[in-house]
Amino acid sequence: MSLLDIRKFDSLSLKSHLSSACLVLLLVLFCIKAKSITLHSASSSSDFTPVEVHLAFTQIPNQIVVSFHTLNYDEKLLGFPMIKFSHKDRTLKGEFQTATLGNVVTQYGEVSHTGYDFNVLLSNLEFDKLYYYQCTFTRNENVSSDIYHFHTRTDPQSPESYETTVISYGDQGILNSYYVMERVKDYISKFYNSSQKNLFVYHLGDISYADDYPGLIYQAVWSWYMNKMTSIMPYVSYMVLPGNHEMGPLHHPYYSFELGFQALNHRFFMPLRNNSNFGHNMWYSFEYGPITFVSISTETNYPENFFPEYVFKGDQLAWLEQTLAKIDRKRTPWVIVTGHRPIYSSAVGYSNSHGIPDGQSVPVQQAFEDLLVKYHVDIMLVGHVHSYERTYPVYKTLVERKDNFHNLRYPIHIVNGAGGCIEGLTWSFMYHWGINWSAHIYNKDEGYGILKTSFNPQSKIHSLTFSFYSAGENQLIDSVTITKDDL
Ligand SMILES: *[C@@H]1O[C@H](CO)[C@@H](O)[C@H](O)[C@H]1NC(C)=O
Ligand SMILES: *[C@@H]1O[C@H](CO)[C@@H](O)[C@H](O)[C@H]1NC(C)=O
Ligand SMILES: *[C@@H]1O[C@H](CO)[C@@H](O)[C@H](O)[C@H]1NC(C)=O
Ligand SMILES: *[C@@H]1O[C@H](CO)[C@@H](O)[C@H](O)[C@H]1NC(C)=O
Ligand SMILES: [Fe+2]
Repeated sequence: MSLLDIRKFDSLSLKSHLSSACLVLLLVLFCIKAKSITLHSASSSSDFTPVEVHLAFTQIPNQIVVSFHTLNYDEKLLGFPMIKFSHKDRTLKGEFQTATLGNVVTQYGEVSHTGYDFNVLLSNLEFDKLYYYQCTFTRNENVSSDIYHFHTRTDPQSPESYETTVISYGDQGILNSYYVMERVKDYISKFYNSSQKNLFVYHLGDISYADDYPGLIYQAVWSWYMNKMTSIMPYVSYMVLPGNHEMGPLHHPYYSFELGFQALNHRFFMPLRNNSNFGHNMWYSFEYGPITFVSISTETNYPENFFPEYVFKGDQLAWLEQTLAKIDRKRTPWVIVTGHRPIYSSAVGYSNSHGIPDGQSVPVQQAFEDLLVKYHVDIMLVGHVHSYERTYPVYKTLVERKDNFHNLRYPIHIVNGAGGCIEGLTWSFMYHWGINWSAHIYNKDEGYGILKTSFNPQSKIHSLTFSFYSAGENQLIDSVTITKDDL
C-alpha cells in the first residue's frame, strides 16, 4: 500500500450512516460558529477571555503547566498572561500566589483564524494539595477564566506515590464520544470526592478529528472539542501525543499554515516543548509514581514513517534509546511506551492471518520493537484502531506466556483507541483466525482504560493492572495484572 492509500484508508474507514447524517447537521452549526468567530471585532473584550483551559506535567514533579487559548490578545491592554492560584482560598480573593510569563504567547498563521495559545508554568507546588486557580492577565484581572481546581501528586518519596491511576483512550472527537466523556468526568469527580491520590488522563493521539471536517472550520472544530472537554481538562493533567489526525486539515479549502502538526504543537505543552534540543510535543518522557512514561511519535521521525515531509527537531530513535537506557528501575519499576499506531493489532490491515504485523504496523515494528524488548518496556499503549485489544507478552510474534505475568521479559501491547470519534468503531477483525498473541478484542462499544499501580511492602512486589471499560454500560470488559519484584 502506498502512503497515500494508507491515509485514505484510515480517514475514510467505516463512517457509520448515523455519523454521516450528524455530520451534515454539524457542518451547518460549525459554519455558523466559525462565522461568529471571524465576525467578532478585534476589540471585543470577550475575545480576550481565557478559554480551553488545560493542564500538563513537566519532567519536574512539583510543576504543572497551565495552558489556555484566546481569540485575541493585546499586550498593551492585557499585559502578560497570569495564573492566580492557592490551596487555601477557593475564591482567589484573599490569599493567593501568581505565576506569569512561562511561554508568553504562541501564535501561528493568521491571528483571526488560529487565535493565541498561552502556557504558564506553576512551580514549587506543594505535593498532595488541592489547588484552586484562574487564568487572567497582569494588567486586567477582569478578563479571566472560571476558577478551576487540580490536585497535585503525592511526594515522590512517599509510599503513597506507588498508588497511581491513569485514565486513557485514543481517537476521540466530538461525535460518538459522549459516553466516554461522561464516564471520565464521573471518574474525576469521584476521585475528588474520595481520598484517592494521583490521577491523570492520557489521550493517545487523534484529538478532535478536526481534519475530517471542511478545512475552513478546522480551528473551529478544535475549539469545539476543547470547549466540550472543559469538564475534564482543567482538573487533571491531560497528556497528549501525535496521531495521524494531528497532521493538519485534509479537506480543501484550508490554510496551509495549519499543516504539519501545528495545532498539537501550539495548543498543548508536553515536557520537551520547552527543551531547546526539541521544542515540540512529538515525543517526550516523564515519571509518574512508579512509572516512567515514554511517549513516541509513530507518525514522524523514523525510517519509513508516515509523514516524511514533516521532520521535527532531534533524532527520535537516538533520544528513545538514551531515554530508555537511563531509566532507574529501582525508582520507576514500570516503563510504559505510549504512542499512536500499534505494532500488534489483529484488525484487517495491521497483521496477516498468522499474526505477522502487516501494512501500517510494519514500519512501526521495525523502528521500535527491538528497543522495547532490549530495555524491558512493560507495556506499549496505543490507539489508532478504534477498538480495544490486548496481547499476551510478545516479541516478533513469539508469545512469552499466557498466564502468571510475573517478571515478564516481553511487553504487553494494548490498543485503546475507542475514545469515540466520527469514524465509528473498527469492526474488521480477524477473530476467526485465532491469532496466538491476541488475548482480548472488544469492538462493540466505545470505552476507556484505567491503569492502576500499587506496591506491597511485605512481599516487595509491584503490581500494575490495566482494565478496559465499555462506555455505554460502564462494564468491565477486560483486565490484566502484571507484577514484578522490587529491585
Ligand atoms: C520554559 O523555560 C523557560 C526558561 O527556563 C521558563 O522561564 C518558562 O517558565 C518555561 N515555560 C514553561 C511553560 O514551562
Ligand atoms: C475591573 O473591574 C472593576 C470593577 O468592575 C473596575 O473598577 C476596574 O476599572 C476594572 N479594571 C479594568 C482594568 O478594566
Ligand atoms: C461529588 O461530590 C459532589 C458534592 O458533594 C456531588 O455533587 C457529586 O455528585 C459527587 N460526585 C460523585 C461522582 O459522587
Ligand atoms: C504463534 O504464531 C506464530 C506465527 O504463526 C508462530 O511462529 C509461533 O510459534 C506461534 N506460537 C507461539 C507460542 O508464539
Ligand atoms: Fe489514528
